[in-house]
Amino acid sequence: MSALILDGKAIAKRLQADIAQQVEDLKASQNTTPGLAAVLVGANPASQMYVKMKRNRCAEVGMASFLHEIPAEISQEELEAKIRQIGDDPNVHGILVQLPLPDHIDAEGVMQAIPMHKDVDGFHPVNIGRLAMKGKEPLFIPATPFGCLHLLQEAESLVDDFQISGSNALVIGRSNIVGMPMALLLVKANATVTVAHSRTKDIQAVVEQSDIVIGAVGRPGMVKGEWFKPGAVAIDVATVKVDDPSAKKGYRWAGDFEYEAAQERVAAITPVPGGVGPMTIAMLLKNTLRAAQATFEN
Ligand code: GUN
Repeated sequence: MSALILDGKAIAKRLQADIAQQVEDLKASQNTTPGLAAVLVGANPASQMYVKMKRNRCAEVGMASFLHEIPAEISQEELEAKIRQIGDDPNVHGILVQLPLPDHIDAEGVMQAIPMHKDVDGFHPVNIGRLAMKGKEPLFIPATPFGCLHLLQEAESLVDDFQISGSNALVIGRSNIVGMPMALLLVKANATVTVAHSRTKDIQAVVEQSDIVIGAVGRPGMVKGEWFKPGAVAIDVATVKVDDPSAKKGYRWAGDFEYEAAQERVAAITPVPGGVGPMTIAMLLKNTLRAAQATFEN
């Protein structure tokens, strides 16, 4: 069986075109440009790159973005005060505090300083709490799990007999940013969810039973191709740079799944790179647009 490749890059591009149109509409109807504030604490090169990519994509869809670069030595109180000050700016509809934060900073306190209606990353404890509560909806869903859900919904429309509702879904990894909110989101979508992690005794046995597998660990090739249940849908969040002397650049990007071997068994799979990655920023833009639109509702 040859698997359907879930082309996140193409899907994100389509989403972005739709977002750009809605940004135009909001400008025309309300004279308002959606604005995202990006808060970067310290000089982590990966974080700098992610924030740059997010700001570039804002520009592509016609959104404003505001960069706040803050020294790593800032105190908890000063950082929270700064976030509250940014939150008071009516031109800012969404606030993104790039993680990880320096060790002396309590991230939960910082997230709480973000006004709920501007929490476009969905990391405010109340938003996460609502994700976990039956009958409640968060104002914003964290971007990476939201992107994975969108890819699964795409698979629903393209793969015969595949439905999220009623499926056995496995999330490997339990981080606050991806694994845990992903598991909660899948429960909301009526899947039967297992969360596997470093203490799980037999990951292979759980993978073999799963209709959906989400890899969110960052250990290249840890899920073997032959473990997948035939017809499963495989979503790989991990993107790890690995040395590869046979590659032109001397390295390649790898995910948690053995990609080629998995393709032989699954019904649909995300490539790495070009799967989940591009979807994450598209969902952040979607959340920011939603935040701006909501200021004109009711
Ligand atoms: N660091 C890694 N992923 C994310 C994300 O989705 N949002 C933020 N703010 N920081 C991150």
